[in-house]
Amino acid sequence: MIDSYNTSHTPVMLKEVLEQLQAKSGDIYVDGTFGAGGYSKAILNSANCILYCIDQDPAVAEFANKLKKEYGSRFKFIAGNFSELNELMSSQNIMRVDGIVLDLGVSSMQLETPDRGFSFMHNGRLDMRMSKTGSDAYNFINKSTEEEIANVIYNYGGETKSRRIAKRIIEKRRISPIETTLELADIVRSVVKKGKSKIDPATRTFQAIRISVNDELASLQSALLASERLLNNNGKLIVVSFHSLEDAIVKEFINERAKPKQSGSRYLPCITNTEFKPTFKWKVNKTIVASEEEIKTNPRSRSAKLRVAIRINQEVDHA
Ligand SMILES: C[S@@+](CC[C@H](N)C(=O)[O-])C[C@H]1O[C@@H](n2cnc3c(N)ncnc32)[C@H](O)[C@@H]1O
Repeated sequence: MIDSYNTSHTPVMLKEVLEQLQAKSGDIYVDGTFGAGGYSKAILNSANCILYCIDQDPAVAEFANKLKKEYGSRFKFIAGNFSELNELMSSQNIMRVDGIVLDLGVSSMQLETPDRGFSFMHNGRLDMRMSKTGSDAYNFINKSTEEEIANVIYNYGGETKSRRIAKRIIEKRRISPIETTLELADIVRSVVKKGKSKIDPATRTFQAIRISVNDELASLQSALLASERLLNNNGKLIVVSFHSLEDAIVKEFINERAKPKQSGSRYLPCITNTEFKPTFKWKVNKTIVASEEEIKTNPRSRSAKLRVAIRINQEVDHA
């Protein structure tokens, strides 16, 4: 069944993304995070190009159907995880593209639909799965060990009270399973008190669990590796991220592909400086952030960071 969302998603940094992509007629692009299709529609309107859109959330079908009607054969939707970018594109007989755009994280529809179980603001069964498949947040909270819970909350949320939160979760679930987003939020709030900041004390814990449930960081790493194989010479890689862990992964990947560290690295462990040929260069050598004006009208854009790189030396492929 297709969900019908009663809310929509305002695309973040759309103007900047379009400026960086500079779509051209006849070129082929990928929007790896289709969502409500805000970026996709704008890209399709900016040039007579072909756009392949990917999303792992089956609920975006209603938006994809609308764009299909409007743009016909210029618009193709592929349901799947962008961690399998190469496989998904090969399934369409596409081996090279001219630009890849990723707008990471969750959409407003996912966050604000209570029964998706993402938000501490709305009551719903703990779920948080973008794809609606696999193990959910309920399983994570009720089946993981205390140490596993603490590590996720610390590593993916940067929550310094992670151990105490995990301990409280274990105490509560001994009495009865923790079923809902509000139950979990109350547990976190009983440990982490609201300070001077406006941010809800449950924010970091919810972000961490979501990242873990959806294996978000590993998916991003796979997509970056795949982009090296998929992009044409001068093809653009454009990534909008919303927290420092994602941004660090993008930054590290491009830096390594542009110029390896002396001692080797996570992505290029066995390449020495003498054999190394860069496969990317920075298009813009710093992070681009949202304008003050956008932040005022769309607070979600406050934490957005845009990074842009260009594929070079296409004959070389480190993946
Ligand atoms: C921030 S929203 C994108 C919004 C979109 N740019 C727009 O303008 O409407 C992120 C979307 O990417 C999807 N997504 C996140 N991670 C994904 C992954 N690994 N594979 C496929 N889709 C993913 C989510 O399901 C969500 O719909």
